[in-house]
Amino acid sequence: MKKHILNLTVTKVEAPASAFVLLRMRPVEGRMPACEPGQFAQLRVDAPGVFLRRPISIHDVEDDEVSFLVQTVGEGTRWLASLKVGNAVNAVMPLGRGFTFYPETHQVLLVGGGVGVAPLYFLGKTLKERGVRPTFLLGARTRDMLLRLDDFRELGDVFVTTEDGSEGERGFVTQHSLWSERSFDLVQTCGPGPMMRAVAHLATDKGMSCEASLENRMACGVGACLCCVEDTRHGHRCVCAEGPVFDVAELKW
Ligand SMILES: Cc1cc2nc3c(=O)[nH]c(=O)nc-3n(C[C@H](O)[C@H](O)[C@H](O)COP(=O)(O)OP(=O)(O)OC[C@H]3O[C@@H](n4cnc5c(N)ncnc54)[C@H](O)[C@@H]3O)c2cc1C
Ligand code: FES
Repeated sequence: MKKHILNLTVTKVEAPASAFVLLRMRPVEGRMPACEPGQFAQLRVDAPGVFLRRPISIHDVEDDEVSFLVQTVGEGTRWLASLKVGNAVNAVMPLGRGFTFYPETHQVLLVGGGVGVAPLYFLGKTLKERGVRPTFLLGARTRDMLLRLDDFRELGDVFVTTEDGSEGERGFVTQHSLWSERSFDLVQTCGPGPMMRAVAHLATDKGMSCEASLENRMACGVGACLCCVEDTRHGHRCVCAEGPVFDVAELKW
């Protein structure tokens, strides 16, 4: 899929939770290129001392508007969170290989943790458009960190875990009773590494196929610097160019 270098203008800024920002942007000129769920953008950060672009998942594409859901963790994401309507951002997108869509697969579970829910919104929306009603299992430390639950509920059934039990079932996503009550053909997940590994093991033990979107540290984002490499069963793979989505059977998890 062709990569584009785009100048985007911020059209809307929302704060779905403390330390999270939802940015909507549209190209200054021309149209938004076609994007697939699980792909990402490399956003240029014009903050002092930040030299590398930051990889951020495509959270949604609607008409010619793209949105990004960002958690502030350091200088780069703090700069993104400080953007105002009308500000400009340079993006290289769409990048990477996204989630797989299997036309015959209808029982799909999307498992997200923290800001890992970001690509699952676009994935869930696309599945719904293709006639599949996805089930979401979304986890966070506490209810204040659950993101856009009402919007996810418009796409499918939503189950929730929080570590402190303030919303949904108490514990981790892998401890939810859904796993013993329902069976799925495919599990697609994004979130912290340990969570995705646990989800991958659980899904595999239950005979379900599973794809995970890796968030290895990245620099170039286009397969040139090799800093994002993952050692897989088929050798070393660039997560930015050959992922970020992998079938977990390929991974040495
Ligand atoms: C393919 C991909 C998609 C991503 N999508 C999103 C998204 O939709 N929303 C979002 O908020 N974030 C996303 N991230 C993570 C995001 O890129 C990092 O949080 C960001 O680059 C941190 O930049 P910074 O300058 O704010 O922090 P830095 O100063 O670079 O780092 C601050 C802290 O965050 C940690 N950190 C930085 N990058 C990562 C990473 N990739 N994984 C785990 N820890 C990291 C560092 O170890 C450090 O502790 C994604 C990452 C990848 C690889
Ligand atoms: S980030 Fe440079 S090769 Fe992946």
